[in-house]
Amino acid sequence: MVKKSKSVELGKLPELGDVPENMIAQVIRAERFGEPSTAFQVESVQTPEARSGEVIIAVMAAGINYNNVWAARGIPVNVIDERKREGEPYDFHIGGSDASGIVYSIGPDVEGIEIGDRVVVHPGYWDADDPWVLAGRDTMLAPSAKIWGYNTNFGSFAQFCRAQAHQVLPKAPQLSWSEAAAPTLVGATIYRMLHGWAGNTVKENDLVLVWGGSGGLGSQAVQLVAAAGALPVAVVSEESRGEYATNLGAVGWINRKDFTHWGLPPHISDREGQREWTTGARAFGKRIWEIAGERRAPNIVIEHPGEETVPTSIFVCETGGMVVICAGTTGYEAVVDLRYHWTRQKRFQGSHGTNDEQARAYNDLVCKGIIDPCRGQVIEFNEIPAAHSAMSRGENVFGNVVALVGASSHDEGRE
Ligand SMILES: NC(=O)c1ccc[n+]([C@@H]2O[C@H](COP(=O)([O-])OP(=O)(O)OC[C@H]3O[C@@H](n4cnc5c(N)ncnc54)[C@H](OP(=O)(O)O)[C@@H]3O)[C@@H](O)[C@H]2O)c1
Repeated sequence: MVKKSKSVELGKLPELGDVPENMIAQVIRAERFGEPSTAFQVESVQTPEARSGEVIIAVMAAGINYNNVWAARGIPVNVIDERKREGEPYDFHIGGSDASGIVYSIGPDVEGIEIGDRVVVHPGYWDADDPWVLAGRDTMLAPSAKIWGYNTNFGSFAQFCRAQAHQVLPKAPQLSWSEAAAPTLVGATIYRMLHGWAGNTVKENDLVLVWGGSGGLGSQAVQLVAAAGALPVAVVSEESRGEYATNLGAVGWINRKDFTHWGLPPHISDREGQREWTTGARAFGKRIWEIAGERRAPNIVIEHPGEETVPTSIFVCETGGMVVICAGTTGYEAVVDLRYHWTRQKRFQGSHGTNDEQARAYNDLVCKGIIDPCRGQVIEFNEIPAAHSAMSRGENVFGNVVALVGASSHDEGRE
């Protein structure tokens, strides 16, 4: 029987298998919803227990993602109320959808995982007894599918997190804890966007437009496109971000600040306004041709800014191509000019999270060293709120920011 401590100091690990009664966590409560820098506060909470099919992991490092900017604001959904409606007792949210760490406790009905395993966690979460899941269908389309550490509680912004066993993947041995905690959410999401939508999966020599080419999603997209033998073109807002994307394999980059037609095209009744908008969108498309070295339109567009960019993405996409979208950071009300959409038979595909197969395929590429984790700035645990605020302002957009939790330095953890 392993002893159970009351608590351990942040940055220290208890004896392997000792899950303390209480843990330090960055906690969001509904009464603090708003600016992330104040919505999160450090609290001591009771450490959760592993239920059937679950494990408890001592978090060594936690990746920062945009989803907990949304959780902190309480929009577009109040994740705490959402869970309470489903019967969860907690009136707080512990977010964090990327973790590297060590397995400390294993619940019933878990196979293939040992205490002491060094792991990362992918964010696809669903009920094992969901009929959709039991039928062997794409689990991320199941009614019970969620994003771990956003829709669920007890994510990685705490000394211990709770995950379902199928989410647990081997940590790439060559990476430190902080490097390993950086890429899985964004990387596995992009893997699904590029490889998950039959009929438009990425092929060798495809041209792929990547918005935010130096950011969390974008830095993984550029690499995964290049790894598939296709040609990534990055869109960024400054030169240093373009250079960052080029170093990761982009064949060229476009500064979106060179264009002004963003957002919704004016209504067709405004002939002059439409003409101006179309001139801007065509000039943007021409920049893509210049980079491609021929008059080629992107076969796939990796979308996430949303309202500001979707009309342009659909306009420039190749006939029969796909705009695949996983977010609406600049707004949710995108307009589609249906003339271009149906006559050119384009596909506008939503995509969300990852299933196990996609996450494993992505993690294999990381373990083989084919994909760089693109760890950005490394911060301390108490800087998690400020890091989310900076992210909401579009700062530090080079890969993914990572917070040290159990690890004491950025290079600890390599094997
Ligand atoms: N559904 C899912 O499964 C899923 C998974 C991961 C992330 N997401 C969502 O995807 C979004 C992006 O996440 P991230 O981790 O990549 O964030 P990030 O690291 O902050 O990157 C966002 C990028 O968007 C670009 N951008 C900002 N404003 C823009 C605008 N007006 N027009 C065009 N580009 C703009 C920025 O690049 P430049 O300023 O250089 O252009 C930046 O690189 C978030 O909303 C996040 O919640 C969804």
